[in-house]
Amino acid sequence: MSTKSKVLEKLEEFKYDFISGEKLAKDLGVSRTSIWKAIKALENDGYKIKSVSKKGYTLIDTNDKLSAEGIKVYLKDKDEYNIFVFDTVNSTNIEAKKLGIEGYKNKTIVVSDEQSNGRGRFGRTFVSPKGKGIYLSLIIKPENMNISDVSFSTILTVVGVFRALNKLTKQNIKIKWVNDLYIDNKKVSGILTELISDVESGNIDFIVSGIGININASTDDFPDELKDIVSSIKLENITRNELIAKITNEIYSIFLNFDKKEIIKEYKNNQLLLGKFIHYEKNGEHKEGTVIDINQDGCLVVEVDNKIEELNSGEVSIQWNRKK
Ligand code: BTN
Repeated sequence: MSTKSKVLEKLEEFKYDFISGEKLAKDLGVSRTSIWKAIKALENDGYKIKSVSKKGYTLIDTNDKLSAEGIKVYLKDKDEYNIFVFDTVNSTNIEAKKLGIEGYKNKTIVVSDEQSNGRGRFGRTFVSPKGKGIYLSLIIKPENMNISDVSFSTILTVVGVFRALNKLTKQNIKIKWVNDLYIDNKKVSGILTELISDVESGNIDFIVSGIGININASTDDFPDELKDIVSSIKLENITRNELIAKITNEIYSIFLNFDKKEIIKEYKNNQLLLGKFIHYEKNGEHKEGTVIDINQDGCLVVEVDNKIEELNSGEVSIQWNRKK
């Protein structure tokens, strides 16, 4: 680890407080000159660092630059993780899949400040403007899970993101079946989970859980066709690094202590679609009905013309002005 990286880790650790050049030099076992050079290099990288004589250095509050060092401060079992931070990538899910194949099969975080080709479900694009979101992929080895439960990965990931956002922000967040998070009836987050299986054994080799969240973005950051249907989360007093780490903590803990009943309960209790009149497609046919439940397998239970139908995947849209 370079001195620059170690200094950044210390500054992140001492965030909102000052750390003196002398203490930095002593803790890191290097000269004061090396510390000064590292500070200059960090400033060149775009970090805003305040320096006050007799007090030392501090990261300025408004810093929201993604870094492995900044994420690590808030990670549980931080030394177990591999963290890859990019300025720009095609898609973090694609990078994560490459890394998984190279051997990073668990506890790996891939994050980028922007994506040139962010991918959503059904081959859609996930618009990923620079600095206006969290574009995160986690590589997970589902060691304690039955193969039959791996299909729950999307729901486990949504609940993990929901928990972290709910703890860290004051906004009223709802889960929209299957894989979205909404605030005030607008989408703020989407999840794309991909399973990579080992062809020879037929087992799941690893999972890539891709999470996209709009953060501190305005409608101008989105193309016209999305302006009315997407929104963004306002982060107050926390950085994207902290949120990334806390989402990661929640998700790995959910996968490790997999409790299907508990997760489905939380998924259902915070569900936007319950009681709503929806439209959806099934076998190429357009249908409408009222959502009456989420069952134990995470399926949406819909009442359609006095009959009950269960959906296990697909896209639904809400008709807001109609209840039944
Ligand atoms: C959806 O809304 O349909 C899912 C969107 C998933 C977007 C995230 S952003 C990080 C990761 N990388 C991608 O290319 N997609 C996922």
